Amino acid sequence: MSMAKTLVKLQALACVAILAALSPLLVTAALLWKLFGKLFCLSSSPKSIVGEVAVVTGAGHGLGRAIALELADKGCHIAVVDINMTGAESTVKQIQEKAKVRAKAYKADVSNYLELVQLNRDVVSDLGPVTVLINNAGILLHRNSVDPEPAEVQQMINVNLAAHFWTRMVFLPTMKAMRRGYLLTISSLAGLFPLPYNTTYTATKAGTTAHMRALRMELALEQLKDIHVCTAMPTFLEANEEVTHLTNEIKISNLYPLISAKQAAHRIVDGMLRGEREIMLPGLAALLYRLMSLLPVSWQDRGMVLASGSRFKQFCALRN
Ligand SMILES: NC(=O)c1ccc[n+]([C@@H]2O[C@H](COP(=O)([O-])OP(=O)(O)OC[C@H]3O[C@@H](n4cnc5c(N)ncnc54)[C@H](O)[C@@H]3O)[C@@H](O)[C@H]2O)c1
Repeated sequence: MSMAKTLVKLQALACVAILAALSPLLVTAALLWKLFGKLFCLSSSPKSIVGEVAVVTGAGHGLGRAIALELADKGCHIAVVDINMTGAESTVKQIQEKAKVRAKAYKADVSNYLELVQLNRDVVSDLGPVTVLINNAGILLHRNSVDPEPAEVQQMINVNLAAHFWTRMVFLPTMKAMRRGYLLTISSLAGLFPLPYNTTYTATKAGTTAHMRALRMELALEQLKDIHVCTAMPTFLEANEEVTHLTNEIKISNLYPLISAKQAAHRIVDGMLRGEREIMLPGLAALLYRLMSLLPVSWQDRGMVLASGSRFKQFCALRN
């Protein structure tokens, strides 16, 4: 091996050794910082979005609807976007009953780039330029989890992963021109704690989380500090009836209480407006994830199988 290669290897080993030696100190400092912030309410106060225009995808039902209502409560005009117009119109009605903001329902499939281009034109002309984008629309389940059809796998990839590239291409340029805005992506804890027999879902959610991490770096490099990119990673919610039914059947609520869509929306919107970058629900999951990441991968795999493997086997048995 050449001298240069040996030096590079030694340099890398030295970095790892320094990081390993410092990690207890860094973990303690990070925990103290969090605790200090909580005790003395140091986290920044939520920014106002009165009069801004938000596009909320998948807002015709579940978490998307709850987020649309939460944003409307904060004075934001809402474009309620869904493939299901009955659901979207119902969300608009609920917004108009509780808030004095403008709201309109739009039919668009987030996996179709051209429909999103048209959507942007329509929303700008009806409500104004979009400065808040909520990427919420998602598909949660395959019909057959163990052996899904290729077309179903592709559709989940299109909606849960590819669509985030299309919405970004369509809506981010305006925010860049205005040098401000919010982009909130609803990912899932499944992207960090994988769900067996739900691999497409797990992979698409891990992909969107990574996408948003890279996007944050790009915006930082372009000095666009007032465009906030936030990723929410909830656990199972009481939002989609089928998922709620299955999680009740396999008694996930014995591990932790299910969070309602309204509670989740409140926490997520508040965090986004405070400039949080990643929000895990429940919050304890963040600590668990960080601690687990320190373990060898074989231990992580074993721990996950022990903690939830049999529950997910049951989950599949119930569906198939
Ligand atoms: N429900 C949970 O337990 C849970 C947990 C973690 C993360 N999430 C995530 O939260 C988001 C919302 O989940 P939910 O439980 O409210 O789902 P939901 O099924 O109740 O609602 C999803 C909405 O998205 C719409 N939609 C689906 N495909 C679309 C498309 N191609 N274009 C436009 N709209 C489309 C549907 O019509 C529906 O109104 C999803 O991204 C999901 O992955 C949900």
